[in-house]
Amino acid sequence: APDVESLLDGGQLLVVSNRQPYSHGYDETGEVAVSRPAGGLTAGLDPVMQRVEGTWIAWGDGEADREVADEDDAVEVPPEDPSYRVRRVWLTDEEVDQYYYGYSNRVLWPLCHGGIWKTDFADEHREAYEAVNRKFARAVREEADDDAVVWFQDYHFTRAPGMVRESMPEAFLMHFWHITWPGWDTFRSLPHGEQTLEGLLGNDLVGFHTGQYVENFLDCIERGLDGATVDRGNDRIEYDGRTTDVEAFPLSVDFDAIAASAECFDSDDWDAFREEHGIATDRVAVGVDRLDYTKGVPERLNALEQLWENHPEWRGELTYVQKASESRSIIPDYRDLQDRVVNGVERINDRFGTDGWTPVVYLDEHLDGDTLNGMYRHSDVLLVSALRDGMNLVAKEFVAAQVDEDGVLVLSNQTGAYEELGKHSVTINPHDIDEFADAIGEALRMDESDRRERMRTMRQWVESHDLSRWMHDVFASAADVRMRRRMGME
Ligand code: G6P
Repeated sequence: APDVESLLDGGQLLVVSNRQPYSHGYDETGEVAVSRPAGGLTAGLDPVMQRVEGTWIAWGDGEADREVADEDDAVEVPPEDPSYRVRRVWLTDEEVDQYYYGYSNRVLWPLCHGGIWKTDFADEHREAYEAVNRKFARAVREEADDDAVVWFQDYHFTRAPGMVRESMPEAFLMHFWHITWPGWDTFRSLPHGEQTLEGLLGNDLVGFHTGQYVENFLDCIERGLDGATVDRGNDRIEYDGRTTDVEAFPLSVDFDAIAASAECFDSDDWDAFREEHGIATDRVAVGVDRLDYTKGVPERLNALEQLWENHPEWRGELTYVQKASESRSIIPDYRDLQDRVVNGVERINDRFGTDGWTPVVYLDEHLDGDTLNGMYRHSDVLLVSALRDGMNLVAKEFVAAQVDEDGVLVLSNQTGAYEELGKHSVTINPHDIDEFADAIGEALRMDESDRRERMRTMRQWVESHDLSRWMHDVFASAADVRMRRRMGME
């Protein structure tokens, strides 16, 4: 992406995120081992960071991370060809508890997903969150030249941009918000919500996945922050003598890499995989989720149960594979969700399972990329039933992996991905179990030409709106905003 160079204009790039692009641990022999970037954005940004020799600031977690860090708390990555710095910010156990498990994941996460009843607004969560944001802001200050570009990621850092701005008036600060931005009627429940808004307005540019989230954010600024003016025509905010531009950039996946990986996993591999995991049928539906209460997994299991109940012809003919990864388990709501999922799987398997057929195959082990993409490729249907989801990249991964173009995407209307793919997916409201069960049946019975046409259209969309296009769009807009700021054109 040449745009990053024009944005940087010879200056530095700093990325700030909660999770690190490389983390260190110990292997069985007690040697330090580095683990690779997992998430799509991290993988996509890594080559950019290597090229521009940037600095990535993130939470350093654990002994091995400390052991390899130099006296400036940094480590050069990637190990085989060190070209950029990961600067680690150390957190105390109490900070982890209150900043990460507390304010980030028991206030902002549920609030933004409309789950006001799952929030815990304890003051100490907010105070620790502010203190940790200050630590990150200090790290930015230490690492950055005055005219650096600093790119904050996600809801863990709503205060840091405002803090960095105080000491770096010339820097270009930008933010990408990876989750939903809620409507004002939800956001207004947040005590001290104006501090969240104010902190984010330390940025020159704030990006969201969809135009709806941009609207919601502008509504919240207009109604929740005294002294701010919102220019609706340009999606621009004036506050405290500064300007912040707001724009939608729907995040995507590395289409080519996923498609190539899925190509590697042929039907023999798939047969072996099914054999290994006890998948007894030819027809397979799949779901891939971090175990989060926003993902609608219990609702999905209910819909499947209803399908097998009302349509006995699918018993012994369809297997549902649930790939699940554990997440944030210290939080009681997450443990409850895990229990509900495990109990649901057991209930269905007890009820319908036979000697030769397990209706729901539950996989909680790690799958390597080729296997995951292969599973997407060879499955008939992907079920995405999130109750609320900023984007849902699983839907796009599935589409990219569908190299034979014959699978069907069943997609919740509550996802950001629905804005782009909803016309060609089978749409569900995840709360309407009857409709959902019917939709799974419809997806399984859809005739081949219809399936292919829909999948081909979705693949063309994701291929032309892939991760590199996203990065290009973000950097190009940022360069444009930066140029306008420098010329004083607002
Ligand atoms: C969501 C958030 C990310 C986060 C990821 C995994 O996708 O937007 O910022 O990294 O969940 O959650 P975790 O809490 O384990 O980082």
